[in-house]
Amino acid sequence: MTVAKENAAMAALDFVETGMTLGLGSGSTAEIFLERLGERIAGGLKVQGIPTSKRTAEVAIENGVPLIEPDKVEGIDLTIDGADEVDPQFSLIKGGGACLLREKIIAHASERMIVIVDQGKMVEMLGAFPLPIEVDPFGMALTAEHIHAALIESGCQDAQTVLRQMKDGSGPLITDGGNYILDSKCKKIPKPADTALLLSKIPGVMEHGIFIDLADVIIIGETDHAKVMELARD
Ligand code: 5RP
Repeated sequence: MTVAKENAAMAALDFVETGMTLGLGSGSTAEIFLERLGERIAGGLKVQGIPTSKRTAEVAIENGVPLIEPDKVEGIDLTIDGADEVDPQFSLIKGGGACLLREKIIAHASERMIVIVDQGKMVEMLGAFPLPIEVDPFGMALTAEHIHAALIESGCQDAQTVLRQMKDGSGPLITDGGNYILDSKCKKIPKPADTALLLSKIPGVMEHGIFIDLADVIIIGETDHAKVMELARD
């Protein structure tokens, strides 16, 4: 899978031009992109990047990618990020790395978003990957009840929700923004736009991992090449 991610990351570099401000996504595929981007910068490419997580900021610095605060730029030309699932309409599930809030802020502010994935992320319908939902810790049990109701009302097949824990068992995972992540095992999300709308109305939900109308290009890395799919928007 690393070769596939590598091929996707390399293909994304073709979209990067000198002078661009880039949104820098999070996750293992985005980190491979940062390594390759760093090599191009060492070769003379001039860009600046806005990281979507503390981890991405660290990796960018390690690879010599200049960073800038989001509030200091006039615009973002291009965001390159990974995803956990991609459907045929280019709707995504993101947040497997717990960075969905900042990833969505930056993707939404970008002229274009390129998503780099391997074939295993491509699905006919979103939902097999548990949907990450970032919530304020205050009143989380109440928020979770409303999330459950919203998922069922919007036609999700199931809606079991678990509080994401730290891998070392030290307690609940805390996002870069100081929130918790609830992972909802929907199995199928037949109407992602309806689900997204209902979730976004719940106080306490800081953001959810359904990304709709944000991705313009999907690059699917395979073992020997990468397939580039562009969505024509009106
Ligand atoms: C982080 C994300 C990642 O983009 C997503 O989890 C994919 O990660 P990877 O490239 O490691 O498979 O949404 O919040």
